[in-house]
Amino acid sequence: AQGRVVVVGSLNMDLVARVPRLPVAGETLAGYTFTQVAGGKGGNQAVAAARLGAGVAMIGCIGRDANGASLRAGLLAEGIDCAALGESASAATGVALIVVDEAGRNSIVIVAGSNGALTPEDIARHEALLGSADVVVCQLETPPETVAAALAAGRRLNKTVILNPAPATGPVPREWLALVDYLIPNEVEAAALTGLPIGSPQEAAAAAAALREQGARNVLITLGAAGILAATEDGTMHLPAPKVTAVDTTAAGDTFIGAFAAELARRSSFDTAVRFAQHAAAISVTRAGAQPSIPTRHEVQAFAV
Ligand code: RIB
Ligand code: NA
Repeated sequence: AQGRVVVVGSLNMDLVARVPRLPVAGETLAGYTFTQVAGGKGGNQAVAAARLGAGVAMIGCIGRDANGASLRAGLLAEGIDCAALGESASAATGVALIVVDEAGRNSIVIVAGSNGALTPEDIARHEALLGSADVVVCQLETPPETVAAALAAGRRLNKTVILNPAPATGPVPREWLALVDYLIPNEVEAAALTGLPIGSPQEAAAAAAALREQGARNVLITLGAAGILAATEDGTMHLPAPKVTAVDTTAAGDTFIGAFAAELARRSSFDTAVRFAQHAAAISVTRAGAQPSIPTRHEVQAFAV
């Protein structure tokens, strides 16, 4: 049966240039192509959860502009409940400036805009919506006090709480970790959270152990092509990723998280949920753009056989 996922987070319009390689400081580089696609970690995770089989609602904030209207329309087209998607009267919709090189690697600059206007009061106002969820998902592209309110509400309402600490530039408040069922950073974020180097699954295991020690129940570190390092109360395991040719890794992590949330919401086992989410993320890597690259449930099932 379908479960319910509520995503609290960001929506960005992604302005994407394909480039031969990532530029260095002071360099001007000619790009191949320019596209404008729906993105933002919150929006991407909501779309992933919806395409992968969950009933989804989004709590976020757009601006009163063309980008905001287009992002809202995109979510509605996926069947996502946007009743709790607010509009800032003053701030422009968030944008992300993205360059993607020939190996599918990216550099991203985000300008929060209206994402910065999502407040703890918005979380309090949508308590009933959060109460309807099986799984609550947050990232760090909205103000920290808003993230704290969402994590606390999710915990208090006895939901499965997922925190994708992205982007992370340092440790998150320690009291957050105890509110979280699944902490899912990538390798860069896990290094920022712990101060530990992460160059191998072994080092990732050490970082995951440190984060569990600080109070996170379960830690999944996404390692890109090297797969997932999962540390839970049942032990630590390294799950290699399916091999694919990367076109654009933008939103691969978001696809993993949305898929994992959708699977947990439908009460799949942890192992099933992780493997399904890895397959979904692998497909997203073979396609360009954030939300356009996220597969449907059928596509994942076809890929997995
Ligand atoms: O995780 C990928 C996303 O990060 C992009 O869609 C961009 O908007 C930034 O938020
Ligand atoms: Na992609």
